[in-house]
Amino acid sequence: MQQEKKIPSHIAFIMDGNGRWAKKRLLPRKAGHREGVSALRRMVDACADAGVEMVSFYAFSTENWTRPQEEIDALFKMVSEFADKHLSEYVRRGFRIMFMGDLSKLPSDTVAALKKIIEEAKDNTGMVVNIALNYGGRDEILRAVNKIISAGIREVDIQTLSDCMYTGGLPDPDVIVRSSGEKRLSNFMLWQAAYSELVFVDELWPDFDSAVFDKIIEEYSKRDRRYGNIRRIG
Ligand code: IPE
Ligand code: IPE
Ligand code: MG
Repeated sequence: MQQEKKIPSHIAFIMDGNGRWAKKRLLPRKAGHREGVSALRRMVDACADAGVEMVSFYAFSTENWTRPQEEIDALFKMVSEFADKHLSEYVRRGFRIMFMGDLSKLPSDTVAALKKIIEEAKDNTGMVVNIALNYGGRDEILRAVNKIISAGIREVDIQTLSDCMYTGGLPDPDVIVRSSGEKRLSNFMLWQAAYSELVFVDELWPDFDSAVFDKIIEEYSKRDRRYGNIRRIG
């Protein structure tokens, strides 16, 4: 029997393998990141075509600051260019654009480019495109706790803490996909991942295309989401 196709409401990508993609071709790591941007754009289009409501991308972690300064500079230059060229196109397509992470530590021209996009997209109602920059799951939880303390709240429940996350009011990821064969979360969406399906694929991130996307949807469609129950719930 053919499997019924299930489209996740929220799909999150841990984009990994750009450096290995470049190394295989004897290119600088930067070239891998550049191809990574193209892959991200292919996944945004695939998600929009499939009717996904929210897509998240892990672009830069709180741990990535330990990389060589030259690579960090190249990455943020690409983020600024991506904002000017492609995020502005997404704004025109009606997508909601959000960034999660501490943007204050980013280069000032990158922050300016991102703020411009946030402003332009503020009335949009379409698919949510969420990009994690200087993001760490532990950092996010601490930030939420500190917000709660500052508000003078003395007792917290799950909803209160959820609302204080960057993703407050938005759905948790139904599926978290990691490329390049690595099987870990690397500090991504630790709170939100409580019941996410995890899909690990061997393809390097720059090789992600519509065929890989279809394979992910097929895999997700086979999963039995039980949430502690004894039968499939959704
Ligand atoms: C992912 O690719 C991109 C970022 C973390 C910014 P990597 O740069 O981690 O690529 P590998 O893991 O070295 O191949
Ligand atoms: C995870 O990739 C972070 C991002 C995709 C932004 P890394 O390449 O930094 O993760 P580790 O070091 O393999 O855990
Ligand atoms: Mg990596």
